Amino acid sequence: MIVYSRNRRLRSSESLRQLVQQTVLNVNDLVMPMFVMEGKDRQEPISSMPGVFRRSLDLTVKECKELSRMGIKAINLYMKVSDHLKDNTGKESWNDDGLMQTAIKAIKEAVPELVIMPDVALDPYSIYGHDGIVTQGKIDNDATNEALVKMSLSLAKAGADVLAPSDMMDARVAMIRTALEENAYTDVGILSYAAKYASAFYGPFRSALDSAPKESGDVPKDKKTYQMDFANSREALDEVLKDVSEGADIIMIKPGLPYLDIVSQVRAMIDLPIAVYHVSGEYAMLKAAAQNGWIDNDKALIESLTCIKRAGADMIFTYAAKEVAALLNS
Ligand code: PBG
Repeated sequence: MIVYSRNRRLRSSESLRQLVQQTVLNVNDLVMPMFVMEGKDRQEPISSMPGVFRRSLDLTVKECKELSRMGIKAINLYMKVSDHLKDNTGKESWNDDGLMQTAIKAIKEAVPELVIMPDVALDPYSIYGHDGIVTQGKIDNDATNEALVKMSLSLAKAGADVLAPSDMMDARVAMIRTALEENAYTDVGILSYAAKYASAFYGPFRSALDSAPKESGDVPKDKKTYQMDFANSREALDEVLKDVSEGADIIMIKPGLPYLDIVSQVRAMIDLPIAVYHVSGEYAMLKAAAQNGWIDNDKALIESLTCIKRAGADMIFTYAAKEVAALLNS
């Protein structure tokens, strides 16, 4: 029996614990997703995501300045698209004067040091709430890729730093990378949602953008033909390797906490930076429990995000980025 080995020795004081701490959450790790809508001086709370707002562009710019002052390095942008601009082609997504393009230009001008990562997907622009074009009751992969390429070029032209395709169409990273290179956007990066699961945890996000798949004729009522089955892990590794070979600069795994086994397996396999999305449902669960006094908001947040980093994330997309930055800075 070994009696001299006592793991508790190094846990006996705060200083010792900090000395041997293996993962440290940093403001630099945080990416803030933001919801932008039309209008001026408008801000609407999202009821299923306490503390999160849809904001008009002027207020978004103001918020970006504050985020940057607090040390946050990057934002991830989503647009609330007006119904009359939605169709089955997604063409508003490559309108050079669209809300997303206008937002990118305004934020870049006001806060040039902030890394802008616009979402690349058709769902906010789709009358069906799908990330792809629907042809005869199916999500049309290759037609969708052509739309995503147009959207990507328009966002690059507006000044996006890193494009974040979240649609899960096959081969879109290769197509977007090729188009960027051919159009002299060689410095525009791609953060690919390589392993994105068909998850119930996206519910609050879809209500924020009114982008849930719509019940309509033979249109698929969920995203299971493109997003991954949550029962699978080896398939995620295959998705990741393909996106790496197609030219992705950063690999995303999504959602976060229920998928940390995937994060650690991908970490062991690739050397590119890994992003993990602490998604809307994860945020909502935490806030709901905290508001009821059932868990400690600050401690549960720091623990959640530190564990995501421990599993292998280099950056974490989280709606709590601002409050976590405030906690880490205090
Ligand atoms: C859509 C998109 C979704 C999220 C990010 N981009 C929802 C979906 O796939 O239906 C979810 C983010 C979240 O839940 O926080 N392309």
